[in-house]
Amino acid sequence: MSLRHPPEQIRIQLGARSYPILLGEGLLGAPDSWQELLPDASAALIVSNTTVAPLYADALRQELSGRFRSIDLIELPDGEQYKNWETLNRIFDRLIGMHGDRSTVLFALGGGVVGDMTGFAAASYMRGIPFVQVPTTLLAQVDSSVGGKTGINHPRGKNMIGAFYQPHLVLCDLATLQTLPDRELSAGLAEIIKYGPIYDLAFFDWVEANIDRLTARDPAALAHAVKRSCEIKAEVVGLDEREGGVRAILNFGHTFGHAIEAGLGYGKWLHGEAVGCGMVMAARLSAEVCGLDAGFVRRVEELIRRAGLPVRGPALEVDRYLELMRSDKKAQAGEIRFVMVDRPGSAVTRTAPEDVVRQVIADCRIAEVA
Ligand SMILES: NC(=O)c1ccc[n+]([C@@H]2O[C@H](COP(=O)([O-])OP(=O)(O)OC[C@H]3O[C@@H](n4cnc5c(N)ncnc54)[C@H](O)[C@@H]3O)[C@@H](O)[C@H]2O)c1
Repeated sequence: MSLRHPPEQIRIQLGARSYPILLGEGLLGAPDSWQELLPDASAALIVSNTTVAPLYADALRQELSGRFRSIDLIELPDGEQYKNWETLNRIFDRLIGMHGDRSTVLFALGGGVVGDMTGFAAASYMRGIPFVQVPTTLLAQVDSSVGGKTGINHPRGKNMIGAFYQPHLVLCDLATLQTLPDRELSAGLAEIIKYGPIYDLAFFDWVEANIDRLTARDPAALAHAVKRSCEIKAEVVGLDEREGGVRAILNFGHTFGHAIEAGLGYGKWLHGEAVGCGMVMAARLSAEVCGLDAGFVRRVEELIRRAGLPVRGPALEVDRYLELMRSDKKAQAGEIRFVMVDRPGSAVTRTAPEDVVRQVIADCRIAEVA
């Protein structure tokens, strides 16, 4: 099959670790456009889950056949609660079982959970084997498949164990978004919305004007949103691969969001839902600490609401939020660091007075404590 339009290509510039992101509608069925970009390897293991594999693994396997001596598939259980050592070990068991070596390539076919775990498996198996990201959720296409953050959760902290490890190639087939449940689409919109306030005000305006097209899955609107998001992520990661500085702004809303996810137990709220609500809290904190215009805070909140995301946090105790945020990776010596918008389209990372943080959480969460 050939594509109606040639795929868009965005390059992540990281010296020897540079790689392309290919974007296109129907990309999985058009291997001519990406075969030559695959790593030089003799065997492939497709890592997917019990939801995505039945939808897309056959198609991918078929397009890869002839290219590799063997193509195996492993179907992991589906869910954030399985992003852990036990599931990771299943990938290692399979690799060892199939005599995988350094000329084995992993394909991460699925959302961010599959992508993060597969990337970490690739980073650590035999001290590193190549992997290709084939993201099938909006969130994974606009964020998690790009930039090389890989890892798993610890019961006491989100993404606590992992590695920076870049994929060889990212294949974003926009057609896969049509089978995504509505709730997952909204979760992906959270990460798209994120890029505007912290980096690109014109993109924020565009998302605001097109949010109804995005929730209705208009292919042209989704294509633009995914492309611009990947361009921004590529620029930021190209400047700061290991989050020594500017890359931290991509965690806007995540400090609060990670506390929500861990506090409720992984899998209860989706990552994107927690980030959406976390951005409301972070925008309000930005108004208190950095003087961000209240009108812009309202626009952020309204856009998150229109994307179908929660704008009020769960009824955890404020102390519990703080306790969880202190174990966030951005915390330094127990001092919590927040990404704040200092003016629309620009962000900084800094601390905030505890009483102000407490007040923002109290104002933004649902009042009753379970
Ligand atoms: N590495 C990074 O930089 C980074 C960035 C953001 C988020 N993340 C991580 O990503 C994870 C969240 O990713 P996610 O939102 O993609 O969740 P997910 O991987 O759990 O996928 C969401 C759900 O959609 C299903 N699904 C996937 N593709 C589908 C399709 N095309 N059709 C139908 N169903 C489909 C999945 O099986 C799952 O049930 C979190 O663990 C988060 O920490 C990582």
